[in-house]
Amino acid sequence: MAGHFYADGDIVDIYRWFATEAAGSSPTWQAVCSWVADTPDVAARLDRLPGMKRQPQLFLAALRHLGAPLVPGPALADWVDRHWEQTQRTILGHSTQTNEVGRCAVHLPLLAGLGAQAGPLALVEVGSSAGLCLLPDAYAYRYRFTDRPDLVVGEGRPEIGCRIAGATPAEAAYALPDIAWRCGIDTAPLDPTDPEVGAWLRALVWPGQPEREERLARALDTVARLPRVPVVTGDALEALPRVVAEARRHADTVVVMHTATLSYVPRERRARFGDLVRGLGARWISCEGERVVPEVRDQLSPGPDGGPARFVLALDGRPLARVGQHGGWIDWL
Ligand SMILES: C[S@@+](CC[C@H](N)C(=O)[O-])C[C@H]1O[C@@H](n2cnc3c(N)ncnc32)[C@H](O)[C@@H]1O
Repeated sequence: MAGHFYADGDIVDIYRWFATEAAGSSPTWQAVCSWVADTPDVAARLDRLPGMKRQPQLFLAALRHLGAPLVPGPALADWVDRHWEQTQRTILGHSTQTNEVGRCAVHLPLLAGLGAQAGPLALVEVGSSAGLCLLPDAYAYRYRFTDRPDLVVGEGRPEIGCRIAGATPAEAAYALPDIAWRCGIDTAPLDPTDPEVGAWLRALVWPGQPEREERLARALDTVARLPRVPVVTGDALEALPRVVAEARRHADTVVVMHTATLSYVPRERRARFGDLVRGLGARWISCEGERVVPEVRDQLSPGPDGGPARFVLALDGRPLARVGQHGGWIDWL
């Protein structure tokens, strides 16, 4: 895919940048990425991968999936050398489809706010992967505030924790939304009941994050026990008009939501996404990196430098919060 940093960027710059992204969340990936950037043989192999397959997360997940020693140095270089064919096959045969159910905790307040305003919702998730975030009402949430006791929503279900800072805006609420209908759209939907899919999703979790692995296991288990949510195979921008038309048959309020997905769409198509959703008369919840959605980025006041990797949560193109990229916290703006 031309027009994307992963496809066109200098491989050393890509790995150096990803080392900074991983800093604070995964010292192992930070160290491995810095090591790749400083190890010309390994960097050269990764440079020769086609287009978006040069994305660091794919190489890193392949290392985990295949059981590589995750300590930078000669043993890892030797492992990459001996297992390159297998590594390459794994990279070419998979995509970064991290499905992080913890993100439901940051979607929930906006879904609940929309539900409180305008009745049952029809939910369309763009880039739904294995569909784990399409079931926000299947989980419980423990919201931890700085100035009041924890609030638990949906008690009795598998729990997801989330720290809240700042004043909750009028558009948000802490409650389970009433979802009348739901559907995913993904270029390559994953079957959450397939053990191979489960193994790859686990490999995509960063090392040293056992709580994410546990959450993933519980979510896969939860999804396996619920009726399958329909998922349309296709490109977001192409499939959206007909999926929204179908959604409208089930609820007056259609919500189009996406997290960690628009960054995979080329820049010029990405810039058209908001107008497309508005043109379809749907509400729009986006949760993406700070620079991913142009109209959101343009309204954002500068945030703190450094710190943990974060996304921006926006409603109808208006930024409302900075959030943890795996859903662990919400800082309302
Ligand atoms: C990183 S995953 C995020 C999954 C999920 N939204 C989450 O937050 O857990 C991105 C997903 O977007 C999908 N995707 C990428 N480009 C897409 C496009 N143009 N249209 C639809 N889905 C796309 C990928 O296949 C992948 O499953």
